[in-house]
Amino acid sequence: MDSTTSTPRACPAPRDRRRSGKLHRRLVAGLVLLIGLLSTGGLYLVFAPRPQIATAQPASAQADPALIDKGEQLYDSACITCHGTNLQGVQGRAPSLIGVGAAAVYFQVSTGRMPLAREQPEGLRKAPLPELNPDTAAGRQNLQALSAYVQAHGGGPQLPTERGTALVGDDPAAGSDSFRLNCASCHSFVGRGGALTRGQYAPILNQATPEQIYAAMLTGPAAMPTFSDRSLTPGEKKDIIAYILSVRGQRNSPGGYNLGDIGPSAEGMTAFVLGMVALVGITVWLGAKS
Ligand code: HEC
Ligand code: HEC
Repeated sequence: MDSTTSTPRACPAPRDRRRSGKLHRRLVAGLVLLIGLLSTGGLYLVFAPRPQIATAQPASAQADPALIDKGEQLYDSACITCHGTNLQGVQGRAPSLIGVGAAAVYFQVSTGRMPLAREQPEGLRKAPLPELNPDTAAGRQNLQALSAYVQAHGGGPQLPTERGTALVGDDPAAGSDSFRLNCASCHSFVGRGGALTRGQYAPILNQATPEQIYAAMLTGPAAMPTFSDRSLTPGEKKDIIAYILSVRGQRNSPGGYNLGDIGPSAEGMTAFVLGMVALVGITVWLGAKS
């Protein structure tokens, strides 16, 4: 073994010199490996699609003091126990609502995710509270008040003033492209949903209303990234909504078995982890051989 070892300095070194040369090379190999791993991670960070901070919009006509007062009452009765007296959040119970914006309130409350019931898993859609149901006139008003109250604390993303069909674009084909680029990795190509890492699940998109889809994009609930108006213009968001509405009920896998809808995100992660382990293994093996 020792006879095949040649130190880079190529001097007739005594045994301990040679040993330290070997150690030196091991260290260099380790360092190269570390740099490789770090730069891979760095490149991933640079090139991975990054959620952008939603553009905070100025509080608009909603900032009517009476509306905010009404919103405060609703907040105090339904949300305060978890989100705190000043919306600052409660450690171990719920996050701060400062700066989450009216759109987040609309999304969370109208989809029944909030107020979170004690036994309810987070992020599960259910019927909204009757008094906060946007399908009734009173519910719409209450929801608007609650949203205005939260909006008055730190601003944040707001839905456009249009509602219903005005939020549905007229180019579902363009929406299809944007959807494939931005959403399909989690929600599958036709919005059937799919499993993500860490036990998260991207839900099926067959129930969300245009307002809720728009609000989801603006606010990025849970593991979902935020799509600000810079990353997806309002027009692109509307076309995506048009696409989602157009494929509702369509089968996911015209090509055959659907692999359990695991989804490319989870599959890609698995491939990445396995590939990384294999690469590290090979590198270590090569290092040990030389
Ligand atoms: C039982 C506790 C509980 C109650 C009551 C509750 N929430 Fe929440 N809320 C949570 C938790 C926990 C989360 C984090 C959920 C997640 O990450 O998926 C959350 C998240 C949110 C978010 C998303 C915050 C963000 O960063 O995007 C909003 C908005 C919200 N809640 C609004 C409300 C409103 C409005 C009410 C009252 C109608 C309410 N919540 C009542 C526990 C609660
Ligand atoms: C990184 C994965 C991921 C990406 C990418 C993603 N989402 Fe999501 N989406 C989620 C998760 C996770 C949830 C569930 C959030 C929760 O639990 O509160 C969700 C929830 C939703 C909901 C709410 C569904 C309902 O019925 O309550 C809508 C609508 C939605 N996403 C639309 C989109 C659109 C449109 C895009 C692309 C512009 C997109 N998502 C991109 C992960 C993702």
